[in-house]
Amino acid sequence: MEKIDHPDQKKSDNAANYWLSGITAGFLALGIFFVVNSKVNVVARLEIPQVDKKFLDNSPWRQTYADLVKSKEDLSDYDCYSCHDKVKPPLIRYDKNQKIIIPKEHANIEMSHGTHERNNLCYNCHNEQNLNTLQARDGNVVKFDNIPQLCGSCHGPAFRDWEAGAHGRTSGYWDRQLGDINRLSCANCHNPHAPRIPTRESAPGPHTYREATNYENTKSVH
Ligand code: HEC
Ligand code: HEC
Ligand code: HEC
Ligand code: HEC
Repeated sequence: MEKIDHPDQKKSDNAANYWLSGITAGFLALGIFFVVNSKVNVVARLEIPQVDKKFLDNSPWRQTYADLVKSKEDLSDYDCYSCHDKVKPPLIRYDKNQKIIIPKEHANIEMSHGTHERNNLCYNCHNEQNLNTLQARDGNVVKFDNIPQLCGSCHGPAFRDWEAGAHGRTSGYWDRQLGDINRLSCANCHNPHAPRIPTRESAPGPHTYREATNYENTKSVH
């Protein structure tokens, strides 16, 4: 049978070609646009400022008597009998509001232990009979390098947590055959005279993408 082109068939072929080349041109243009645009918008990386080293330091913020002995620092503050009389323990003085007066020789001491200063009495911790030692609530005499025994005599739960490694950043080895366990003393973190942990300046937040890419100059990149 002879094939006869219908006039309408020709028309529709033309239309299809017209559309196809239109779409091809469109995609080409888009491609060029992307290539060119990607070159224009190479994002300049900005130098990110380093975090201040003080925020990365994780050593305890206080030194205890034991640390001072180890690093051979001045221990004259602990030499109580260079100023005090061995037979006459210093009297505790109060002002008219029953607040303990800190003598100027002890001006470095900020006394504030407990809400309403419940535990400000020096001889709750220091041994009146021998100032060079401390005294726990059960009467046991405790040396200056064994502070947890003293604190533990009043703070049972915190002490037990500490012994179990749940309080006070225990580190070192679980398996004692591999090495020692490392325990910080209560006084590495708590000032015995004012044990509430002071607030600290918070570290800066993480750097954002915008900060790192000079956002102002790259409006089309979000
Ligand atoms: C540089 C000298 C000096 C040293 C060292 C010193 N003290 Fe004192 N202390 C004083 C003076 C001065 C006073 C006020 C007069 C007084 O009470 O004898 C005082 C007062 C005190 C008081 C009475 C506090 C009050 O608020 O009323 C206590 C308790 C005390 N000292 C304990 C100690 C202990 C414990 C040590 C050692 C860990 C020590 N001192 C080391 C000079 C010293
Ligand atoms: C004689 C008992 C006694 C001893 C010893 C003692 N504390 Fe306290 N502590 C108290 C009392 C009482 C409070 C107040 C509790 C309250 O206000 O509810 C307190 C409060 C605290 C607080 C809460 C913060 C605050 O100021 O309210 C911390 C932390 C603390 N003690 C740590 C220590 C450490 C560390 C030691 C050892 C250096 C220690 N305590 C030794 C009795 C004691
Ligand atoms: C909650 C227990 C507690 C109370 C209450 C307390 N101290 Fe202490 N004090 C200690 C401990 C523990 C040390 C050892 C600190 C260390 O090694 O970090 C110490 C250290 C000291 C020292 C030597 C180091 C320094 O900071 O000068 C003096 C002096 C002293 N205390 C005086 C006093 C006086 C005076 C009072 C009363 C106004 C008092 N303390 C109340 C627990 C206490
Ligand atoms: C590594 C640091 C670190 C060590 C070591 C440490 N603590 Fe704490 N402790 C903290 C922090 C942080 C808090 C929670 C902050 C706060 O409440 O002031 C806290 C809270 C406490 C509280 C509760 C305070 C409250 O307001 O309820 C007590 C009591 C206490 N510690 C006692 C001790 C005793 C006793 C020891 C030693 C046996 C000890 N801590 C060792 C860091 C430490």
